Amino acid sequence: MSDQASVFDTNRRIRLGFWGLGRGMSFVEMCTALNFDVVAGCDFNPQMRENFRKACPDALVTDNADEFLDADIDAVLLATYCPAHAADAIRCLEAGKHVLSEVTSFHTMGEGVELVEAVERTGKVYNLAENYPFTAHQSYLARRWREGLFGEFMYGEGEYVHEVRGLAYCYGGGMPVVPGDRFHNWRSWQHFHYYNTHSLGPVMVITGLRPTRVVALPGEVALPGYPREKGGGLGGVAPSLITLSNGALFRNLMGGMTGDTHTFRYWGTKGAAEITDKLYLRLGAGGDSPRLPVHADWGELTSLAERMPHGGGDFFVLYHFARQILFDEPAPFDIYTAADVTIPGILAFRSSCEGGKPYDVPDFRDKAAREPWRGDQFAQERPDVTRSSFPPNADRKRVERFNGLMWDALSHVKLVRAYADWMKVADDAEDPASIVAAADRVIEAYPAIRDTFREAIDLAEAYPGSEGAELLRDVIDLAEAPAVLADGYLDQVKRDRDALKRRVDAAAD
Ligand SMILES: NC(=O)c1ccc[n+]([C@@H]2O[C@H](COP(=O)([O-])OP(=O)(O)OC[C@H]3O[C@@H](n4cnc5c(N)ncnc54)[C@H](O)[C@@H]3O)[C@@H](O)[C@H]2O)c1
Repeated sequence: MSDQASVFDTNRRIRLGFWGLGRGMSFVEMCTALNFDVVAGCDFNPQMRENFRKACPDALVTDNADEFLDADIDAVLLATYCPAHAADAIRCLEAGKHVLSEVTSFHTMGEGVELVEAVERTGKVYNLAENYPFTAHQSYLARRWREGLFGEFMYGEGEYVHEVRGLAYCYGGGMPVVPGDRFHNWRSWQHFHYYNTHSLGPVMVITGLRPTRVVALPGEVALPGYPREKGGGLGGVAPSLITLSNGALFRNLMGGMTGDTHTFRYWGTKGAAEITDKLYLRLGAGGDSPRLPVHADWGELTSLAERMPHGGGDFFVLYHFARQILFDEPAPFDIYTAADVTIPGILAFRSSCEGGKPYDVPDFRDKAAREPWRGDQFAQERPDVTRSSFPPNADRKRVERFNGLMWDALSHVKLVRAYADWMKVADDAEDPASIVAAADRVIEAYPAIRDTFREAIDLAEAYPGSEGAELLRDVIDLAEAPAVLADGYLDQVKRDRDALKRRVDAAAD
């Protein structure tokens, strides 16, 4: 896109720096057309800096936040660790930079008050990069909701169910956290309630309502292979029930479970909508009114947005940010809406810790409403992420393989379970050819699967009782690894695959 003309009718450019070069990199491609020049990048991970240097060879690259903030940049795209966003954003604002912060905005209520006041004090633009409301489907619903098509909002459900166990050990793409026997800074423990904005943000944008009260019960069952955390961290489940400012209700579901879903359902007094693989509307003001899929795009920005990650949502957060800096046009997620969407996650976690006690969601636009929360640092207890998952005298070379090994083992466990479990119901499947493909994937990956499971068993046996061994055991058990490693396993998979393929071919004839 770098050769493309600007989307905006101005030559004014914005000098942008990326702080945090993992997620930050997703935005590089679309910067030029949105009047951003990427002039600096900061990350203390050398591999991340290298990736950035390749993409932006003329930019300043540093591991030092002070040097980064001293540089001649107008704005920062903040994509550092999730629970650090408030403190990092305040540093940027105090250094005179506009901030586009990744989700979520802050981790405690007290930090929220500080951040709101830092934005007010500095007068800089602050936006939250909440992107899920800006997919084509959600954007369409926002427009139609404003037109009154659905009437008054009654009830809705939003879901951000995303199994990301591997990210407790590795960065996206599988680059292990180093040293390889330490967990990820926050993805190894942070409760899913704290990652609440992708599921809650869309209903706020669509309806223009704000959350006013939240309640949550604790869910205590977590996925195996995720570090042991009370409440399951990002390997657990986090549903909450939220009252919106018109008295409607919204069920906000986050979780790391066996079945990712980003389904959204909205009911109004005149009509309803459902986003699954398509966008369905039910129009006619009745329960049995016609339900039909509809087409949705973003109008004249479609060709730019549709190429961007997260269903085009990433394009729009950067677009809104540029527009506010260039033309002072308010973005959907300024600091106050950022607070509105972040607070229900913090208070839902607190509610779940307190047996389901409901909490009012303060409106931080109102200075008086901030006072009870000023200095409030209630938060999930943070484990020491610098600890090793193995005993102090363990062989460093061996245990530093742990994170990469967990990543591989978790991906291989899914292959062998998909094959084994789908074979059990092959006769019931509508598309048995997909089960043939699942068997093919096991056959193809078998040498790697075998090596990974052998190494996992060896490492677990070398340090029994350690945290690392427990997690390896989880995966070994889930994979039924001894059976997968037994003589004859691969031949059996091939026989099963061939028999099923014959049945599929016969049915097609
Ligand atoms: N909106 C979305 O769809 C979406 C998608 C992915 C991630 N995110 C958000 O983006 C943020 C970053 O995500 P990520 O996937 O890159 O994960 P991450 O937390 O692993 O990455 C943070 C990066 O920042 C660097 N970093 C952290 N603190 C630093 C500091 N003080 N100085 C220099 N470098 C520092 C780390 O080395 C790392 O590379 C997260 O908070 C996450 O919530 C949002």
